[in-house]
Amino acid sequence: MSVPGNLLHPFSEPAKSESDFVNVVSAEGSVLTDDTGKQYLDGMASLWYCQVGHGRREIIDAVTTQLNTLATYNTFDPFTNDRAREAAALIASKSPLPDARVFLGCSGSEAIDTSLKLARIVQQRRGRPDKQMIVRRTHGYHGTNFGGTSAQGIEPNREGWGELVPHFVEVPNDNIEEAAKVFAEHGERIAAVVSEPVQGAGGVWPPEDGYLQGLRRLCDQHDALLIFDEVICGFGRTGSWFASQTFGVTPDLMTFAKGVTSGYQPLSGVIISAEVATELSEPGFLLRTGYTYSGHPASCAAAVANIELIESEGLVERANHIGKKTVEGFDALVADGMVKSYRGVGAVWAVEIGRDAIPAKQAMLDRGVVVRGVGESLIWCPPLVVTDDQIGMFIETMEQVLS
Ligand SMILES: Cc1ncc(COP(=O)(O)O)c(C=O)c1O
Repeated sequence: MSVPGNLLHPFSEPAKSESDFVNVVSAEGSVLTDDTGKQYLDGMASLWYCQVGHGRREIIDAVTTQLNTLATYNTFDPFTNDRAREAAALIASKSPLPDARVFLGCSGSEAIDTSLKLARIVQQRRGRPDKQMIVRRTHGYHGTNFGGTSAQGIEPNREGWGELVPHFVEVPNDNIEEAAKVFAEHGERIAAVVSEPVQGAGGVWPPEDGYLQGLRRLCDQHDALLIFDEVICGFGRTGSWFASQTFGVTPDLMTFAKGVTSGYQPLSGVIISAEVATELSEPGFLLRTGYTYSGHPASCAAAVANIELIESEGLVERANHIGKKTVEGFDALVADGMVKSYRGVGAVWAVEIGRDAIPAKQAMLDRGVVVRGVGESLIWCPPLVVTDDQIGMFIETMEQVLS
């Protein structure tokens, strides 16, 4: 095919020919194979999500068993199902909010839009209807539905769609004083702050020391809710189950997706602190939001099996080992003058190469290593089962490409 086919790819040039895409036909562990038989090291865990690696029978079997028992049913009132209840309880138990309620959806974008709606409705129910503003951070990525697009701190992603959701205000991602100024001016009207603890798609930006604590303090002082978007950070990526635990800051609402199932089935959600959930628990109050596939039993079966694998294989701790090995490699590249600097935590890293990263990313792909390029950074976010030899291969390939 030398023309675009029927498939319209996300975040891609619609004019690009279908034959110019890499056609992935199978995957095992951290290795992908395309339709020509070429193999690639999956240095991005697909799209920041495949914690347990590809081809895991444990998850495939759990989903198959579920499909053979109850393939699908909704969880709108009056229905529920065992897998949805089990997944919610397991997710809450790993979170810093063990008594939380857990709302389920399919995508990170659904989780984010739901968290923004929940923040506003909670403020209304507290008798603060003027509190509608949402504070977002530069470099933040929160999905592509209208709420998440409005919450984006990556400007090009907000452009071209016409008017977005009103009452969003942006603060720099690294300066708590600037956030304090916004709160001083608008505190009475701020419903919530939405923040990735470690910003991912915007280029892997761990928080400055004290920054997340500062956001927590400002929210407490001004009766605003703190939403952590843990869609990338959750389920071991930063060396704890959630980045909230890595950085010792507890939000009111947390979104998750990706690593919750390692992508084997679509699942996302919002973890809602017990205190916030109380605002919604008045008898007779009806929560008028949710999705057809909220609590889908096959997705929830994938989550339960995936979380059990992360636990039994010690993958949360393994993220820290990956970080240590990655940093050893980066240090050598810095010492050789090949790269300028690096940043990250656990198993998510960016390395600054001092030039446009897109050609370097392409050269890595040609040599069989999948990474991302953002600005002048190459991004590395491998499955948590990546081996030391594979980390070595990533570093060696980068060395070849950059020299
Ligand atoms: C932090 C964060 N939030 C939300 C999203 C949106 O998730 P989805 O693409 O599943 O809608 C993403 C996706 O990369 C993300 O990284």
